[in-house]
Amino acid sequence: MRYSRRELIANGLGLAGLGIVPARLLRAQAIEFAADPFSLGVASGYPEPGAVVLWTRLAPEPLAPGGGMPRDADAVPVDWEVAEDDGFRRIRRSGRTYATPDWAHSVHVEVAGLEPGRDYWYRFTSGGARSPVGHTRTAPVDPSSLRLAVASCQQYEGGHYAAYAAMARDDLDLVLHVGDYIYEMRGRTDRVRSHDTPECYTLDDYRLRYAIYKSDTQLQAAHAGCPWMVTWDDHEVDNDYADRRSLEGDAEELFLARRAAAYQAYYEHMPLPRRLVPFGPHQRLHARRGFGELAEVWTLDGRQYRSVHACGTGLVSPCSALYAEERTMLGAQQEQWLGAGFQRSRARWKLLAQQTVFAHMDQAAGPDTGYWSDGWSGYPAARRRLVDFIAERNVANPLVLSGDIHAFLANEVHARPGDPDTPILATEFVTTSISSPGPRQAALDSWVPENPNVRFARGEVRGYVRLSLEAESAHAEFVGIDDVSRADSGTHVVTTFDVAAGEPGLQV
Ligand SMILES: [Fe+2]
Repeated sequence: MRYSRRELIANGLGLAGLGIVPARLLRAQAIEFAADPFSLGVASGYPEPGAVVLWTRLAPEPLAPGGGMPRDADAVPVDWEVAEDDGFRRIRRSGRTYATPDWAHSVHVEVAGLEPGRDYWYRFTSGGARSPVGHTRTAPVDPSSLRLAVASCQQYEGGHYAAYAAMARDDLDLVLHVGDYIYEMRGRTDRVRSHDTPECYTLDDYRLRYAIYKSDTQLQAAHAGCPWMVTWDDHEVDNDYADRRSLEGDAEELFLARRAAAYQAYYEHMPLPRRLVPFGPHQRLHARRGFGELAEVWTLDGRQYRSVHACGTGLVSPCSALYAEERTMLGAQQEQWLGAGFQRSRARWKLLAQQTVFAHMDQAAGPDTGYWSDGWSGYPAARRRLVDFIAERNVANPLVLSGDIHAFLANEVHARPGDPDTPILATEFVTTSISSPGPRQAALDSWVPENPNVRFARGEVRGYVRLSLEAESAHAEFVGIDDVSRADSGTHVVTTFDVAAGEPGLQV
């Protein structure tokens, strides 16, 4: 097949340099896969009323260098189809995109021209191979209800992804992942399952780590089940990093090169819109999607722009540096963007999907005070600015959805965090880990009772938060996995909470 210059430009390949494109495409015609190139599954994300992002990556041998793609596999054509039925009898949209080694043969297709609030099925074809079928759903214009799940912290070695198998059965409109999708550290052999790979530093390291994680068929099932929106935490790059500072104090230029590799691999493996493509060590990740007047979802990036930790790392007793006015969690630009969004929003429920625990928590037992320096209690001025904004502008019905600490928590956020005599302005649900090991219950019980705004804390269970939104109420279920060491584990509801619209805080 010959391509005209106009077709090449229309396909976006004109940007890749017209001089080299014809040669790339000629080679592409000959591609034949020795094994299934869709070994990492398919995904969709960032739904809008008429649009959604589709993702896949060609990797016939996912754990081999380059995913097992032939060395000369440049600009490999990947055809995509979106249908109104799972048998693909009524194709609504279709097209061709190209997978290149520069992006690990991943593709991100932004499909527009769809109808709002309806189910679609999609699949990819390349070199005669056909992907599994994914199911997705565009954002509704005027929904009466919305069902979503919140996930975080899925250390591969920690256990199986039965939580994701359960999500795939849940008939969800959206999955929100709030970070630690991978762990960058050297593989461990003392847990439920293992991978024998060194700590990630290079692009190849991170690509391999995503390939290991995404080879899991239960994770693939959750991606294929409904659209996701995602944000990262620290382990997508390096434990407890802050902006351009690593915990180990690496030279900044070296750490930023590592961050660039990590961000690129993240983009290559997530159903992210092209607007969120990384440029070197910089990547806009914060995003917003609306679901009619019922809900608006913000995914926040509390990692890339944050001030360095104050008073030490881990659990710290507060020193004066902790309270410095200029310390930020989101960075000035993202803070302003969120404020403007809050002010404009007419949605009933305002969901803040983000990395670390937002509510005030003194985690030292007894008279001592201890704050987790990596969470919002380690950034009190940044939290106060956001809470003051909510109070002063009467931002109604904010729900904060967080992860990080590998435990279920239900928290109330007071006008003055730490002062339970001030009004409650927001409610926070913290999801436990999908598989990462969590704290002992006794450890939580030693400090939780000293924090009246922490209404529930459960550490020894893995799982996710399932959230149902309706105009008058939000209903959260803390879904626990019976046995994380078993892929076929069942689930149980650990507890449930309700929030009534117009009445911030948990219903008793
Ligand atoms: Fe984690």
